[in-house]
Amino acid sequence: MTRISFPDDFIWGVATSAYQIEGAWNEDGRGISIWDTLSHTPGKIMNNDTGDVAADHYHRWKEDFDLLSELGVHAYRFSVAWPRILPQGAGAVNPKGLDFYDRLVDDLLRRQIEPYVCLYHWDLPQPLQDKGGWPNRALVNDFVEYARIVTRRLGDRVKVWFTHNEPWVTAFVGHFLGEHAPGWKDLGAAIRALHHLLVSHGLAARAIRAEAKQPVQIGITLNLNPVYPASDSEKDREAANQVDMMMNRIVLDPLLKGTSPISESTMASLLTGKLIQPGDLETIRTLDILGVNYYSRTVIKHSNKIPFINVEQVYPPGNEYSGMWEIFPEGLYVLLKRIQEEYLAPLGDSVPRLMITENGVPVPDGVDFDGQVRDERRIRYLRNHLIQLHRAVQDGVAVKGYFHWSLLDNFEWAWGYSQRFGLVYVDFKTQKRVVKNSGRWFAEVVKANGFATD
Ligand code: FCB
Repeated sequence: MTRISFPDDFIWGVATSAYQIEGAWNEDGRGISIWDTLSHTPGKIMNNDTGDVAADHYHRWKEDFDLLSELGVHAYRFSVAWPRILPQGAGAVNPKGLDFYDRLVDDLLRRQIEPYVCLYHWDLPQPLQDKGGWPNRALVNDFVEYARIVTRRLGDRVKVWFTHNEPWVTAFVGHFLGEHAPGWKDLGAAIRALHHLLVSHGLAARAIRAEAKQPVQIGITLNLNPVYPASDSEKDREAANQVDMMMNRIVLDPLLKGTSPISESTMASLLTGKLIQPGDLETIRTLDILGVNYYSRTVIKHSNKIPFINVEQVYPPGNEYSGMWEIFPEGLYVLLKRIQEEYLAPLGDSVPRLMITENGVPVPDGVDFDGQVRDERRIRYLRNHLIQLHRAVQDGVAVKGYFHWSLLDNFEWAWGYSQRFGLVYVDFKTQKRVVKNSGRWFAEVVKANGFATD
């Protein structure tokens, strides 16, 4: 029998986000977010689903935390809903919002589960969108103030903070592809939004460190996709390189190298006025934890279909796919090796801790006649990705933890409830929870800190 074991201090966890699970969209003084606006607009979300009720976690969090204890995880990554704390985005604080997260943190600590708090998982208060949203630099200060307020309340207990979840997705899927809130299709706005998100990361990091009552670790979580050319041709390789720049280097370079990969000429052709102000790149480059969200890879070929962009995504035949993406475990290894070699190795001693902060797969799960959820595909996905992760660790990449996405089935953004990512099944009619077979399998892995590969 071959076993793989992870390092002794390896951290096992699961992740969720506020809008995807909480529901209670208009309770206890919560303000409106851009996701309420988008999901309440007919035709924007699959089946016109909304996060109004979601997994009703706002009312059922105790039951859900019992599930965390049952899984035996060491840490739980969740996000704070900005509109619960500041219903107008800035100004008056809603005490009931802070109380809610205060209770969550206390209960997690009581269970010896480390809270990993993310400040922004996409639910921007609508009044700040009305001021121009992330493409407007004024949002940076609003975010920093919000970070300060949450840290003042939770910073005596929370040691690990993430500023943003997937700023690339906020910027590009929200402002260029138009599939996420606020639903814009403007490349210049996406680039501006991304820069402001990153600057707000740097300034919020300073604010959190200043307000916290103890040493804290500041992280960011990035969606990173290894980009493969569809063929060996020069044109396809160049196209893949371009996409790698626009999806990966555009966030990694500023955060870890203090540089921007976007050329001055591209900036000038897309933007009016100067975007990067003196000192910005120094501000952005501060990180204690680099959180990697890995789901899939991207395969790219050269194409004239879309002028200016000249690239097209292709889906190689014969591989395994889920309802959303190609399943490609080896990409995790390739990605981690690249981060290590290109970004972390040159940093010497000041290297941030590397963690997988999301990884998971949607499976059209259902409850069988005997009450079990037999999600074999998720178990296979988990097992194959953990094997690749372990391979990277063996090869010297210091990955410190793994968080599965997600604890619960939830509102999967533009896909509504059509995609189930949970280790725990949620019947959205009754809100009944059932631990899936993958949840049981994961709990065994956590307990043993490894598993048998044959
Ligand atoms: C990530 C998001 C997360 C979830 C997964 C499937 O991009 O961070 O909220 O939707 O994808």
